[in-house]
Amino acid sequence: MRARLVAGNWKMNGSRSANQALLDAIVAGVKGVECAVCMPAPYLAQGQERLRGTPVVLAAQNLSEHASGAYTGEVSGAMLAEFGCRYVLVGHSERRHMFGETDAQVAAKFVAACAAGITPILCLGETLEERDAGRTEEVVARQLGAVLDKVRIGDAVVAYEPVWAIGTGRTATPEQAQAVHAFLRQRLSAATRVLYGGSVKPENAAAIFSMPDVDGGLIGGASLIAKNFIAICSMAQRKG
Ligand code: PGA
Repeated sequence: MRARLVAGNWKMNGSRSANQALLDAIVAGVKGVECAVCMPAPYLAQGQERLRGTPVVLAAQNLSEHASGAYTGEVSGAMLAEFGCRYVLVGHSERRHMFGETDAQVAAKFVAACAAGITPILCLGETLEERDAGRTEEVVARQLGAVLDKVRIGDAVVAYEPVWAIGTGRTATPEQAQAVHAFLRQRLSAATRVLYGGSVKPENAAAIFSMPDVDGGLIGGASLIAKNFIAICSMAQRKG
């Protein structure tokens, strides 16, 4: 049985003091499930310091596909590794849609993360337009295929996040999530965990986590509120 993982994606939120309070609460409150916090890059040192010796693991939200050099503003996998990042998100829909990341670039980032010894969390998902056109499977297969063409996914993590459910308050039903997870599962090794993300809240997490092919969650908005994130983590404890 794959161990469950719940990752909080803080996005571009936080401050030194707010982070400290949130990390303190998460460390005190999360038990019985692997839990990661994807912090903004400038705060990774703070996260590393606070999480040292605790079961909560540090993660980043993005990395460069390049190893080093003249890439102003970019952060390499080796830099993230120095700050103790265990995971890094690659291909989050906000990166794909707002920052123009292509499938090929996401695949290169995936490879760069592995090269730095950091486990990538490959985010993929369809837009509402694509779902309405019946193209969900085609889109997620293309996004996944771009990575599988380059490298084995092995024990990395995939996060299915329907774009129409991210930050919208509109969650996929557990059955919609399960259908896409089952489709992805056929293309992945038994070790790969597939998380669901998109408006996961304490109110809907248990139903989503009860689906057989859902191995945990990638939590955005609700991960900024300690009691909500802790509640979601506790609902993920069931298997593992
Ligand atoms: P949300 O974000 O939980 O706020 O919908 C999820 C994500 O973007 O990873």
